[in-house]
Amino acid sequence: MTALAPQTIFLKDYAEPHHWVETVHLTFALAPRATRVTSKIVFTPNTNNLGDLILNGEQLSLKSVTVNGAPVSYEVTDTHLTVKQADLPCEPFTFEAEVEISPETNTALEGLYMSSGMYCTQCEAEGFRKITYYPDRPDVMAVFTVRVESDLPVMLSNGNPQAAGAGWAEWHDPWPKPAYLFALVAGDLLAHSGSFTTMSGKDVDLNIYVRKGDEDKCAFGMQALIDSMRWDERVYGREYDLDIFNIVAVDDFNMGAMENKGLNIFNSSCVLASPETSTDATFERVEGIIAHEYFHNWTGNRITCRDWFQLCLKEGLTVYRDQMFSGDMRSHAVKRIEEVLQLRARQFREDNGPLAHNVRPESFVEINNFYTATVYEKGAEVIGMLRRLIGDEAYYKGCTLYFDRHDGQAVTIEDWIKVFEEVTGRDLAHFAQWYSQAGTPRLTVNETWDNGTLTLNFTQSTPATPGQEVKKPQVLPIMVGLIAPDGTEVVPSTVLEMTESAQSFTFDGLSERPVASILRDFSAPVILQREMDAKTRAFLLAHDTDPFNTWEMGRMLAKDTLVAMIVDGVEPARDYLDALKTMVTDATKDPAFRALCLALPSQDDMAQTLFDAGVTPDPMAIYEARENLRHILAAELKDDLPALYAANDAGAFKPDADGSGKRSLRMAVLSLLTLNDQGTAAQNLFETADNMTEQAGALTALLSAGIGQEELASFYAQWFHDRLVMDKWFMMQVAAAAPLDAARIAQTLTEHADFSMKNPNRFRAVFGALAGNHGGFHAPDGAAYKLLADWLIQLDPLNPQTTARMCGAFETWKRYDADRGDMITTQLKRILATKGLSGDTTEMVTRILGA
Ligand code: BES
Ligand code: ZN
Repeated sequence: MTALAPQTIFLKDYAEPHHWVETVHLTFALAPRATRVTSKIVFTPNTNNLGDLILNGEQLSLKSVTVNGAPVSYEVTDTHLTVKQADLPCEPFTFEAEVEISPETNTALEGLYMSSGMYCTQCEAEGFRKITYYPDRPDVMAVFTVRVESDLPVMLSNGNPQAAGAGWAEWHDPWPKPAYLFALVAGDLLAHSGSFTTMSGKDVDLNIYVRKGDEDKCAFGMQALIDSMRWDERVYGREYDLDIFNIVAVDDFNMGAMENKGLNIFNSSCVLASPETSTDATFERVEGIIAHEYFHNWTGNRITCRDWFQLCLKEGLTVYRDQMFSGDMRSHAVKRIEEVLQLRARQFREDNGPLAHNVRPESFVEINNFYTATVYEKGAEVIGMLRRLIGDEAYYKGCTLYFDRHDGQAVTIEDWIKVFEEVTGRDLAHFAQWYSQAGTPRLTVNETWDNGTLTLNFTQSTPATPGQEVKKPQVLPIMVGLIAPDGTEVVPSTVLEMTESAQSFTFDGLSERPVASILRDFSAPVILQREMDAKTRAFLLAHDTDPFNTWEMGRMLAKDTLVAMIVDGVEPARDYLDALKTMVTDATKDPAFRALCLALPSQDDMAQTLFDAGVTPDPMAIYEARENLRHILAAELKDDLPALYAANDAGAFKPDADGSGKRSLRMAVLSLLTLNDQGTAAQNLFETADNMTEQAGALTALLSAGIGQEELASFYAQWFHDRLVMDKWFMMQVAAAAPLDAARIAQTLTEHADFSMKNPNRFRAVFGALAGNHGGFHAPDGAAYKLLADWLIQLDPLNPQTTARMCGAFETWKRYDADRGDMITTQLKRILATKGLSGDTTEMVTRILGA
């Protein structure tokens, strides 16, 4: 057996499998280091593409193989088991195999592994092949029956429970599914139970399974699940389809959560929530992610992907659906701003660097490396644009046709686009280019005014991305509105459809020259370049009816201010300070919205902004200007801050939009107030808070002001027993560190008894925070680069997937000066030179280096 060099897989090479699977019977005799997996699989030769039986299998110890009960000759490599076509029957046959695996030593957290004494699985994308020999590809859908044997009290798998006895349980899933949706859990777990009656009157049992001690952190997740089930019935007409829906919380998990049919598995950080231990941000995330995984039941499970190139078909659509759900549950305006902040911070960053790729990639080495912001977030934006272009009615009609036509199938983006072409009669070929052209379009606009007619002149162009030099114009829905000088809206929101490189749109019959509000609700994922003076921005900030653009104008003012401070060393503009003060103190506006206005652009955002303007960003100058501006704001708002702080006390904790909005404004205010009062208010709040949002908010305010060491120690003493709170303790210290301290603090934390690199949450708490501390990560001595590289090299043999993902910290190296560029590439080359480096990490580092 020899290890093969990792291979590149191409979308254009797709071919159907040689065999389909009818049914699968699996028996698991669980044991930590010697779990026996017996499989009985009924295969049917695929008459479209006859050939050898090719099964995937990795890290399996094979004990026996039979076909129709008799021995058969086969070939086994590190990655496959093959039976020659000539040795197989021409009609359906039964393949049986027995393998042994070792869940306890599985630190990659892919396949069957153990976490805090429980067995669990993670099969997406290609983990099932570490469980048994199987055609591990999403277009092979089959009906699974699973028997679990162990002395643990809870034994779960997909579908409905079928039978159970002492030491065993059987599950049957009637819905054909690909192997990546298989799941198994066994452990000493407690259930928080609930129930749901579907729109056609079927009762469904709901359970959230957790380790003892976590049972009081399930109620919020259960409500989120019920809300999600109701929402998918009401909005998309989709009903749940089994007698039972189980969620399990697992401490060691590479991702956030996984949509296995009827048995979702969650990173405990994404499902457990209680007021004392979880922040508002965690509550919001739990609600969104429970919805996301639940919504996959239709967009992903009932209708799945033909191959992994189609990943955005399920992920982009499901993100779009969970975003709409969260908007309905909370506030669409606030949610949209948060989405755009995240899109710019993650997806624009990716699109502007060496990792830029299509929403539907055309090749990959390791599919795990393509669960990206582009596939997810840009994939969701593409659906939002489609909906804007064709309208709500056609959108839902198309979705219903998609569900009806493709239920039980593994399909492609072409199938998805086709239903909308059919319901609208439109040719969507040009629109579909969003799936096959990478890069963020730059949209410019200028205005001309002539005797009652306003003309908006747009141009668009997309910069080259790796492997894609020539770009074509995209279809852009541009939502605009016009506002008269007296502040009234004279033309309400309307969608312009831009399809060319340069295009003009006119509005006539206007009595006075209006101000245009352009790209309302961020109607297309582009970078809008528009010359506008501070006065016009302030006018829109005060009068725009579109909440996104209102916020955006404040953001542009803040960015202009910071750029001028950094580049020209000037004081912040008066227009900006006045506008911000008016906005933040306007008690008629939503506190959550005001908190978003008060939040300054991130350092990373400023680095990208400077780079786009042709200035090499200096991370230290960005850090200092931003700190300086925080002090100036604190002084400007000196008289308002104590009143704002008092007025936004939300009272008894409720994790709803209202309460969390008030707390987010209050914490933003506290962060500035701490610069004025030497920490008095924050210290008081830290001691009296009855919820984690305020306790952690107070501690962060203190740490960000360079104080709070006593509170940090008492936080540890209070919470050392709670894993998820301790993740925050690790994270906050690194996130709030000053640039020259960050690497040292992170390094010291790795020596802490509670640090463990085997737990992805803990590893990310320290190193995700280090990578996210822009000034600290890019400190001039390069210490953070080296520290992160050291730890990635250590983590790679244990957990390649998490290692590869964290390499993304280095993706922006081309933005910075030659010294930093050299230091980063030196570390990347050192990682790449590591003996036995995983395929996952090799692919990421190679792409980042651009070799
Ligand atoms: N299907 C994914 C989980 C997954 C990701 C499995 C990568 C294997 C590799 C799941 O539906 C998902 O997208 N989870 C997200 C959270 C979601 C709210 C966007 C995650 O885990 O981060
Ligand atoms: Zn998903």
